[in-house]
Amino acid sequence: MAEVVIVENAEAAGALVAAEIVELIDGRPDAVLGLATGSTPLPVYKALREKLTGRDVSQVRGFALDEYVGIDPAHPESYRSVITREVVEPLGLDPRRIHVPNGAQDTIQHAGDDYETAIEAAGGVDLQILGIGTDGHIGFNEPGSSFASRTRVKTLTVQTREDNARFFDSIDDVPKHCITQGLGTILRARHLVLLAFGEGKAQAVADAVEGPLSAILPGSAIQLHPHATVVVDEAAASRLRLSDYYRYTYANKPSWQGI
Ligand code: PGA
Repeated sequence: MAEVVIVENAEAAGALVAAEIVELIDGRPDAVLGLATGSTPLPVYKALREKLTGRDVSQVRGFALDEYVGIDPAHPESYRSVITREVVEPLGLDPRRIHVPNGAQDTIQHAGDDYETAIEAAGGVDLQILGIGTDGHIGFNEPGSSFASRTRVKTLTVQTREDNARFFDSIDDVPKHCITQGLGTILRARHLVLLAFGEGKAQAVADAVEGPLSAILPGSAIQLHPHATVVVDEAAASRLRLSDYYRYTYANKPSWQGI
């Protein structure tokens, strides 16, 4: 099962995950990071900004999880813009090495295959950062997504569009379709790190970590991964049945083991 690390707050989670990423980059300067958008990964990027100061990150490569279909890439809420603003610019990464699925309508039919080819050509993702939606999605793999799915177009649920309406002027402006790495794509990354904060995520976290494997809860796919780490605050951990065991395990973890 996934290793669950319960931390005090989002800042502590950011520091923990950023330390793991720095170690990865120190060992492999052209490491391939799987980048997530949304509010959840922001503490990781903030902590990375401090920890990476003075390091050469010019070789680091990255692949975003998803993008809206039909959105102007220059729109401030396109995931291309978000990744540029939150990750590429603050961390000083080379934008040519950071990939985002292409949501342009005219090439959408082969954009998924193109993205899979690019990930394979890079040798796969070393560490994939993940958030989880209140409906259990990871990436934009909405309930019902195949565990074997590849990068493809999905229809966003009304719940996801409502959750993301805060980034747009109105819910009508939230696109209805997205292009997202599949669950199969995500499972091929060498290390999955899923973060979640707040009571609103508690049920999705419990279902993903301890519930049955089911396409109805796409996050449960992480149970199939040999190296998945779930970093949560107390509120997001509040519905986990084995939370005492996770705390005990982490407290007694051999010091040579990272996350
Ligand atoms: P959030 O989104 O980090 O903005 O809560 C998570 C997700 O939808 O995967």
